[in-house]
Amino acid sequence: MINPQKNSILVVDDTPNNIRLLFDLLRGVGFNVSVVKSGELALEKLHLIQPDLILLDVMMPGMDGFETCRRLKADEKSKDIPVIFMTVLSDIESKVKGLQMGAVDYITKPIQIEEVLARVNVHLALRNTQVQLMNEVTEHREAEMKLQETLKELQKAQTHLIQSEKMSALGQLVAGVAHEINNPVNFIGGNIIHAIEYTKNLLNLIQLYQEYYPNPVPEIISEIEEIELDYLSDDLPKLLHSMEVGVQRLQEIVLSLRLFSRTDDSKMKLVDIHQGIDSTLMILGHRIKEYPDRPGIEIIKNYGNLPLVECYGGRLNQVFMNIITNAIDGLEQAINSQKIFTPSIAIQTEVLDSDWVKIRISDNGCGIPVEIQKRIFEPFFTTKPIGTGTGIGLAISYQIVTEKHHGSLECVSELGEGSEFRITIPIKRYQ
Ligand SMILES: Nc1ncnc2c1ncn2[C@@H]1O[C@H](COP(=O)(O)OP(=O)(O)O)[C@@H](O)[C@H]1O
Ligand SMILES: [Mg+2]
Repeated sequence: MINPQKNSILVVDDTPNNIRLLFDLLRGVGFNVSVVKSGELALEKLHLIQPDLILLDVMMPGMDGFETCRRLKADEKSKDIPVIFMTVLSDIESKVKGLQMGAVDYITKPIQIEEVLARVNVHLALRNTQVQLMNEVTEHREAEMKLQETLKELQKAQTHLIQSEKMSALGQLVAGVAHEINNPVNFIGGNIIHAIEYTKNLLNLIQLYQEYYPNPVPEIISEIEEIELDYLSDDLPKLLHSMEVGVQRLQEIVLSLRLFSRTDDSKMKLVDIHQGIDSTLMILGHRIKEYPDRPGIEIIKNYGNLPLVECYGGRLNQVFMNIITNAIDGLEQAINSQKIFTPSIAIQTEVLDSDWVKIRISDNGCGIPVEIQKRIFEPFFTTKPIGTGTGIGLAISYQIVTEKHHGSLECVSELGEGSEFRITIPIKRYQ
């Protein structure tokens, strides 16, 4: 059952006769046997060798068997090695004490060859099985940890893929739409100025006619009444003016879309961070403004004096978009839970140590519980209902800030009070 070649036994005894007997017996069946003559020497020896079993005499001068056993059970390195006590036949008390000290068994003196071999074999078999099991458990654990790591890597890769695909598809779509709209919008914008001018001239002319020809033919009188000339003359300039305002707004939106989507993001460029934040806010305008059943969200900008930052502008806009969208979601949740407050988002920028810029985006919304804060940057982690949240916004943002820009993204939040996200990135490309 036991392959003695593989197992080693340490004999601790001070009686030469016993030592000789045990040594010959165990060596004779093929075990690897070491012998020491005292408890002190046994402990020393255990720094050098790792036997599979210890045969320990109880009665020894100096440190006795019990103390030796207590010490080797207290040592992490030797505590799992099975110990068999050797004690005098009648000494029941010693046997019990030995077992209490952590011994697995005892052998009675004078030594019986068969008994020694039988007990040694049983305990070595047990020990070997235990070691094997422990190895298997360790292997299992290692395999599980590797699997966990691989899974994390996979999720990261997946997020990356979704991110780049989404970005390029969405970016191209937005850039395409912006480009297509740009021409007609500029065309309308350019012409409306002339339309306003011409209209003014024509209305002037009509007024002159009315002054110099105060009594027109009946057909003209009825036409003037028909078209309500007074009202028309008053309303037409106003109407054209509001069209002009509308076109200007369209032009701003188109510019924001183009800035936001930056499809030329393959290289780092010098970017105006504030412009990126502003175009993001412009695009999110419909979620910020007031509705009949919801107050508007106040935007508090506290912009520092930032230099142009060498970065991937489009990607950073994506980060602003994710964080501000989450802030709006958090504010809406707080509004829905009847919290009485003025919903607001504060955006603060500053230069740190002349090498870094820091952007803080904070809200006074629902806040994030501590146990959830640890998980918000994990891919696919969301607390929002299915179909609303994807759980990749912050994972993507984290990747963009830390991996693409070698910066940091942190979250500070207090439940019921609000949340702050802090982005720190280098002003110059990270070498
Ligand atoms: N400003 C915030 N206020 C409250 N909770 C937030 C805020 N930002 C992030 N969270 C929490 O972090 C989670 C993960 O965010 P995100 O990765 O953007 O995924 P999603 O928005 O799709 O849920 C959210 O589900 C939410 O629980
Ligand atoms: Mg989100």
